[in-house]
Amino acid sequence: MTMDFDKRAKDWDNPEKTRRAEAVARVIIKNIALSKEVTRGLEYGCGTGLVSFVLQPYLKEITLADDSQGMLEELKDKIKAAGATNMRPMMLDLINDAPPDEDFDLIYISMTLHHIKDVPRILKIFNLLLTPGGWLCVADLDKESGAFHAGKSGFDGHHGFDRLELSALLSESGFIDICFETCHMIEKNTKDGLKEFPVFMACCKKP
Ligand SMILES: C[S@@+](CC[C@H](N)C(=O)[O-])C[C@H]1O[C@@H](n2cnc3c(N)ncnc32)[C@H](O)[C@@H]1O
Repeated sequence: MTMDFDKRAKDWDNPEKTRRAEAVARVIIKNIALSKEVTRGLEYGCGTGLVSFVLQPYLKEITLADDSQGMLEELKDKIKAAGATNMRPMMLDLINDAPPDEDFDLIYISMTLHHIKDVPRILKIFNLLLTPGGWLCVADLDKESGAFHAGKSGFDGHHGFDRLELSALLSESGFIDICFETCHMIEKNTKDGLKEFPVFMACCKKP
């Protein structure tokens, strides 16, 4: 069983998630030379596109992929309202579907990797989808006790990631120049009171 993102889509956007997305996007903008004329991006597990709406003015075109119809419906409405002509939503689950027949200069994924069971497999697929010299940016939770998703029915993913272990997986999947930084802190009420959950950004390159 997995979490029902279709049901959560309508209420997904809120000030905390918007701040988080801005922090994630700012690190991508700081670390990577993006070009409005050239760079073709893929956001995987885009939800309602919060990260991509910050990056949209910096990229030539963005494919926004998610496997939740509900999230994609919200996203389509937002793209229409914004009049953004370079954003293209796509229903896609790279674990089960064939990958799109195109390549990308940048792939980014925010708070979605912990929902994907087979992390080595998805990282290798990302590597295949990138152009030589292309970048992968992964933002997600640092390893945590399980408190982050406690009480969320259907969660069967990872309790964050150990940076050294993820770095080794990225390297085994063909990435180089791997660097991590903390990009955001999520404050959340848990059964032990208010707790902070750090969010890392890992940027790395396909040779
Ligand atoms: C925690 S949300 C993050 C959404 C967005 N990136 C954000 O930061 O607001 C995780 C998203 O990943 C999507 N997702 C989960 N598993 C997926 C998969 N295997 N393929 C594509 N999308 C997936 C969910 O539908 C959901 O929209």
